[in-house]
Amino acid sequence: MSSDSGTKRVRVAIIGAGAVSDYHHVPALRMDPRAELAAVCDADEGLLAKRKGDWGVELASTDPIALCASDAIDAVIIATPNFTHHPIATAAARGGKHVMCEKPLGLNAHEVREMYEAARDANVVHMTAFTYRFAPSMRYLRHLLKSGALGTPRHFRSQRFLDWPETSWGWRQYKDKAGAGDLFDMTIHRIDFALDLLGPLARVCGAVARFAPRTTTPDGRACAQSDVDDWSCLIGEFASGATGVWEGTTLAKGYGRNGFGHEWAEINGSEGSAVYRLHEPNTILLGKTGSDLAPVPVPSEFLKPADSPRDPSQGEPATVFRYDLVWEFISAIAEGRPAVPSFYDGLNAQLIADSVLESYEKRTWIETPLAKP
Ligand SMILES: NC(=O)c1ccc[n+]([C@@H]2O[C@H](COP(=O)([O-])OP(=O)(O)OC[C@H]3O[C@@H](n4cnc5c(N)ncnc54)[C@H](O)[C@@H]3O)[C@@H](O)[C@H]2O)c1
Repeated sequence: MSSDSGTKRVRVAIIGAGAVSDYHHVPALRMDPRAELAAVCDADEGLLAKRKGDWGVELASTDPIALCASDAIDAVIIATPNFTHHPIATAAARGGKHVMCEKPLGLNAHEVREMYEAARDANVVHMTAFTYRFAPSMRYLRHLLKSGALGTPRHFRSQRFLDWPETSWGWRQYKDKAGAGDLFDMTIHRIDFALDLLGPLARVCGAVARFAPRTTTPDGRACAQSDVDDWSCLIGEFASGATGVWEGTTLAKGYGRNGFGHEWAEINGSEGSAVYRLHEPNTILLGKTGSDLAPVPVPSEFLKPADSPRDPSQGEPATVFRYDLVWEFISAIAEGRPAVPSFYDGLNAQLIADSVLESYEKRTWIETPLAKP
C-alpha cells in the first residue's frame, strides 16, 4: 500500500488496457480516494504508451506475469481477452495480489476452479466483474425479493437483445480465445444474477446458435470465420422449485437503444412481479394482481453503495453504476472481507454456462449442483 498524507492507498495495476478498462475501471479508480492506479500492462506496446500518457501512470509493462510478482502493487484488475485470464489470475494470487477479473473468468469451469482455488488458498480478495449485480434496479429488485415483498418466487425471466454489427469481433469470435460467444459474453451475467437472486439451479437445458459468419473486419479486411454462438438460451429449474428462462442475442435488429440494447429481467412471485431494465437502471417496474406493472423510482439507498463518493445524479445512468464494482473490490481489501461477487460465484456461473453447451451437444438436461467451496 502507498502512503499519501498518512493514508494507505491500495496500489492497483490494470492488466489489459482496452475498452472495458478505459470505460469502467479507470474512471472508477479515479473516484476512489482509497485506491491508486499504480501500473498499467498491455501486450500492445502502442496502446500501452498511449494509456501511460492518458492515464498518467508511471509503471508500464507488457509482461503481466512479471507485474504480478512486483512489490510495487497490491492488487490487479484483469481485463484481457478470456483465454489469458487463467495464467494471469493464478500468477496474481500466487504473488499475493488481490485480484478482480473480468467475466467469464476462464474458458471453462476446469480453468475457473483452478483460479478460484489459487485465490482462496493465497488468502487474497478475489472478485468476478459481474457488472449488472450493481445496477440500482437490480439491487432494489434483490431487496424486494429477499425481504419477501414479492412472495414466493416462481418464475425468473431474462432477455438480453443487442443490435450489434455483423463484422468481425476480433478475439471474441473464436472459441480458443473466448470460450463461447453470446453465452460467455452476455448470458453468463444473467446466469450469475439469477443464482444470486434465487439460489442454486438444480438442472438446465440449453441451446446456442451462430448466424453471422463475421469474415470481414470493420475496415473491410478478410478474417477467419467465427466459431462461437451469437444467440444463446437456457431453461432451468432452481433447487427451490422456481423456473427460469434466459435468451440472449447480438443480432436483434432494431434493439440498438444507443448501444445499451434491450435488457429485461423479472421475477414473478406469488405476491407480485418486479422488473429490472438496463436502459432505465434507476427505475423498477412493479405490479401485482389488480394493478399492472408500473414504474417506481429506486429508493436513494439503492442508487450506489453506502459511503461511495459517487453522485448518482451525475453521468449516464446505464454507465455510472459500473464504477461500483471497483468500489466493492477496494472496500473488501480495505475492510479485510471477501468481495461480492467472488471467484466462487464466477465458478458457479461458469458451471451453468458450460452445462448449456453440454446440454445442447447431448440434446439433454444437465444436473447442475453448486461447486464445492
Ligand atoms: N463486465 C463487463 O460488463 C464487461 C464489459 C466488456 C468486457 N468485459 C470483459 O473484459 C475483458 C476485456 O474486454 P475488452 O472489451 O476490454 O477487450 P479489448 O480487446 O478492448 O481489450 C483487451 C486488451 O488486452 C490486451 N491483451 C491481450 N492479451 C494480453 C496479455 N496477455 N497481457 C496483457 N494485455 C493483453 C489487448 O492488447 C487489449 O488492449 C474480456 O474478458 C471481456 O469479456 C466485461
